[in-house]
Amino acid sequence: MKPLIVANWKMNPVSIKEAEKLFNSVKHGVEDIESAETVICPPFIYLPLLKGLVLGAQDCYWEEKGAYTGEVSVAMLKEIGCKYVLAGHSERRKLFGEKDNDVNKKVLTILDAGLIPILCVGETEQEREQEKTEEVLKEELEIGLVDVRDVSKVIVAYEPIWAIGTGNPCDVEEAQRMKEIIQKMVSKNIRILYGGSAKANNAEGYLKQAGFDGLLVGGASLDPKEFVKIVNTS
Ligand code: PGA
Repeated sequence: MKPLIVANWKMNPVSIKEAEKLFNSVKHGVEDIESAETVICPPFIYLPLLKGLVLGAQDCYWEEKGAYTGEVSVAMLKEIGCKYVLAGHSERRKLFGEKDNDVNKKVLTILDAGLIPILCVGETEQEREQEKTEEVLKEELEIGLVDVRDVSKVIVAYEPIWAIGTGNPCDVEEAQRMKEIIQKMVSKNIRILYGGSAKANNAEGYLKQAGFDGLLVGGASLDPKEFVKIVNTS
């Protein structure tokens, strides 16, 4: 399978005009690249406006419809053409109090709808210092994947929290070790992405050396030239 290069725009850019400009620059830059699948995860409201690249959502809610102010269902995302949905990004967990059980409900709902969940896992700096990384990953994976019938349909993104948005990416060797640990923990052959200050100058290490199946790119995905370079390294 082709490596998956996923842009997580988070709550950026600030206007439709800029979102369209960024999207179109990326689209133009990657149109001849066949070695990777490029996915854009913009804020929800831009999703119906962006056409011509594979789309993903940054989050979803597990209920089908009803009185859930502010939430977006998976059916809505499917109708708009999303193929992928992030579940349990560390910012959702930390800033919005998402628990492993919530993440699990999201993963199950995304799978039920026939979309592909990207389950995000990773340790904080403190957990890493206390050598609790494996414990954290185990819990996030075990609970996140409860009742999932075919785990191979889930993509896992290993995103050490201390590396996200810090400009301090994880060493390729350490990331590779974590990738192998995750693969063992889920005991199935699943696709695993790396995320955390991924850039054009380190992408090759994760993809070629550590053997990740793709990247989840935050900050660098807002710079079309940089992002296209990342897609090009695959
Ligand atoms: P970053 O974000 O590339 O800006 O570190 C990655 C992510 O949060 O998915």
